[in-house]
Amino acid sequence: MIPRRGENHTALVTGASRGIGRAIAERLAAEGYRVFANDLERQASELADLVAEITKSGGRCEAVYCDVSNPRSVEDMVHGCLVAAGSIDLLVNNAGVLSVHPVAEIEPDEWDRMFDVNTKGTFLVTKALLGHFRGRKAGRIVNIASIGGKRGGPGQSHYCASKAAVINFTQVLAMEIARDGVTVNAVCPGIIDTDMGRNNYRNEESLRQVKEKTAMGRLGYPADVVGAVAFFASDDAAFITGQSLNVDGGIIFH
Ligand SMILES: NC(=O)c1ccc[n+]([C@@H]2O[C@H](COP(=O)([O-])OP(=O)(O)OC[C@H]3O[C@@H](n4cnc5c(N)ncnc54)[C@H](O)[C@@H]3O)[C@@H](O)[C@H]2O)c1
Repeated sequence: MIPRRGENHTALVTGASRGIGRAIAERLAAEGYRVFANDLERQASELADLVAEITKSGGRCEAVYCDVSNPRSVEDMVHGCLVAAGSIDLLVNNAGVLSVHPVAEIEPDEWDRMFDVNTKGTFLVTKALLGHFRGRKAGRIVNIASIGGKRGGPGQSHYCASKAAVINFTQVLAMEIARDGVTVNAVCPGIIDTDMGRNNYRNEESLRQVKEKTAMGRLGYPADVVGAVAFFASDDAAFITGQSLNVDGGIIFH
């Protein structure tokens, strides 16, 4: 039974057209949140499908478009959400990108792309909402980082560095805004079966190795991640801030 913790609450979830972000939007809508589901314009049909699915099951969801790495577009999107809803209670910074290259083969532009979306995107959407959260003396921010931000893997130095930055950003922001009634926490997924996650296992043998890495001996699914987000968003987590929680079936233990 999903708790109705989001009644009279509004959430903005970035990168919500598929994968983990989509599952988070579905879960928050099921808890009663009015959800603004963000993604890039090119994901319009997937987002329309999400909105239709949530609406059909009695939830509230609207699509909002922007590239989270574009400061002007982010400000316009957040302004639009605030005009439409009056307030936002929860921000989930989920939009992210991954590519796999050894350090020697990473082009500088590709390095920047990881940081522009994963790190700067998280910063920009957060910054656009900070004044609102501070003014209300309330707000919840959940950043989707990665276990890669704690222990990297070969071929993912740029991605892992961008996620380590998100974990550190989460800690410092938590210190800065705790006394304004705002908590900031990070969820660090392990290997989750999504378009992005499948970069980690391209054949049966690598899938077996990936499963073997987890204490539980299995892949994660988007539905495995959403409970941690909903928890950090809830009143039960009122005294928790600056933390980064691994949701990985037991791969790393710190
Ligand atoms: N799947 C995994 O194994 C895994 C593991 C650890 C962390 N994560 C993190 O979880 C989050 C979700 O990943 P996923 O596996 O669902 O990936 P995914 O590729 O399936 O989904 C990512 C979503 O972000 C959107 N997006 C990308 N760039 C964007 C931008 N500039 N502006 C707005 N939206 C943008 C994409 O269109 C897509 O809908 C990411 O932050 C990712 O780094 C995933």
